Amino acid sequence: MYKIVTRKQLNDAVVLMEIDAPYIAAKAEAGQFIIYRVDEKGERVPLTIADYDREKGTITIIFQVVGASTTELARLNEGDYIHDVVGPLGVATEYDEGIKRVAVVGGGVGCAIAYPQAKKLHSMGVEVDLIAGFRSKDIVILEDEMGKASSHLHICTDDGSYGYHGFVTNKLQELIDGGAKFDEVIAIGPVPMMKFVCKVTKPYDIKTLVSLNPIMIDGTGMCGGCRVTVDGKIKYACVDGPDFDGQKVDFDELMRRNSTYKEQEKAHLCRLTG
Ligand code: FES
Repeated sequence: MYKIVTRKQLNDAVVLMEIDAPYIAAKAEAGQFIIYRVDEKGERVPLTIADYDREKGTITIIFQVVGASTTELARLNEGDYIHDVVGPLGVATEYDEGIKRVAVVGGGVGCAIAYPQAKKLHSMGVEVDLIAGFRSKDIVILEDEMGKASSHLHICTDDGSYGYHGFVTNKLQELIDGGAKFDEVIAIGPVPMMKFVCKVTKPYDIKTLVSLNPIMIDGTGMCGGCRVTVDGKIKYACVDGPDFDGQKVDFDELMRRNSTYKEQEKAHLCRLTG
């Protein structure tokens, strides 16, 4: 059982939880994830580790309430326990030697995952442009934290209610057009966003890493649930990823596979919320 030591509502639909998990905190690195079950009959749900504190022995997860399992998790409060948390899983992000400037692009709750990537790179002395996209001002999260974890923070909103008016891809294109020389781009967020970031970077041959979050079950490479096609080959996001070369990912297949259980997910949520 894993105790929730902090619970914060970051916006109407996004929740931060700091969880007492000393063994996971001792080994966690940026890019890795955990799988949790709220109770013993719960669905196994992967969530990227947004932060960790090795001294306190805690990890932080940030999630959007989108379905039954995240609704159940969000109902827990400080002092409550999560039935199980397994991790750290996946391969930690590997950064090339000698990189000088990197754009980290986050979309919506994906910014919670972009943030630790930016923080790690920033601490290595890399110039980091953190491009964080949200639909509107009222759902912006982690602005202070992202500001401290980057050299240049570019908040973008689709409706122009805050920061740059436009999509993250527009901002990225503007920066490139303005002469920014990125050694690498890291994109984390909705699948279509990652696909379009790759379209922006392709003509410039900028290495572009994406963090994939397909349906996962065991998290150990045994079940095949998280199968993705990269460079025409089958990969398993839980053990080969979650980071992959975005130019080689079959995003259309990933989108199709991610919607496989849409009807069942809807029915489960209806049963839970009445
Ligand atoms: Fe089962 Fe990756 S979650 S193989």
